[in-house]
Amino acid sequence: MAMKDYQVKRMFESIAFSYDFQNSFLSLRRDTYWRRVMAQCLHLPGEASVLDMATGTGEVAVEICRHHPRAKVIGVDFSPKMLTVGREKKKFKKFASRIHLSLGDGRQLPFQSGSFEAATIAFGIRNIEEREQALREFYRVLKPGGQLLIMEFDIPNDPLLGGIYRLYFDYLLPPLGNLLSRTNYAYSYLATSVHDFPTEREFLQEIGRAGFVSPGVKRLTYGVAKIFRGIKHARS
Ligand SMILES: C[S@@+](CC[C@H](N)C(=O)[O-])C[C@H]1O[C@@H](n2cnc3c(N)ncnc32)[C@H](O)[C@@H]1O
Repeated sequence: MAMKDYQVKRMFESIAFSYDFQNSFLSLRRDTYWRRVMAQCLHLPGEASVLDMATGTGEVAVEICRHHPRAKVIGVDFSPKMLTVGREKKKFKKFASRIHLSLGDGRQLPFQSGSFEAATIAFGIRNIEEREQALREFYRVLKPGGQLLIMEFDIPNDPLLGGIYRLYFDYLLPPLGNLLSRTNYAYSYLATSVHDFPTEREFLQEIGRAGFVSPGVKRLTYGVAKIFRGIKHARS
């Protein structure tokens, strides 16, 4: 069952302090690799402003700074505790002059239209009930020609791999994740929300409906994670 936004916020507030460890442990450190690839997929014109929505503890923002030495990143999230954990990390401090973490809601971004060369969101769009509204907000705040990258989980298409992965994802990950996060629902919700998310084709259509052109997708680790892309029309 879908969660309301205030429930999502409460959940991340309660798991913020162990979030990075859980992610890393449960994905066998694949999450670090996925975010690195996402940062590498960004095409930035030198000094660029990048919005990282649902930035959480700022992992994507850090990767972007690592790979794009002249980029500045604004990381936005509606969970104050996730942002606090982010600011206190050693690797964040290394790039602190180029990353600004700020409270905000992806459904109504506190930025003027045409503010950013690129926008990213990793493992966040699935949690936003008004997803199409969030996509329209991305479109609004991007400059013409700006690039949107969205990373989300999925199940591998291959029937054998998909079947094996589902055993892990549906039966092992929820109890293990719930135990690590000391909740009885956070990782059960993860599995449900991934299954409830639109198919690859449907989501590419949603990206197109928000106004983006050249939609595309890059599958990582046999399709366990996917990076969706859209470009804001250069003449809009
Ligand atoms: C699974 S975490 C992903 C964090 C980070 N992007 C990463 O790669 O680890 C999802 C984040 O989305 C944030 N979030 C969910 N809905 C949001 C909304 N409507 N506006 C802002 N942040 C939101 C949550 O607070 C949480 O920090």
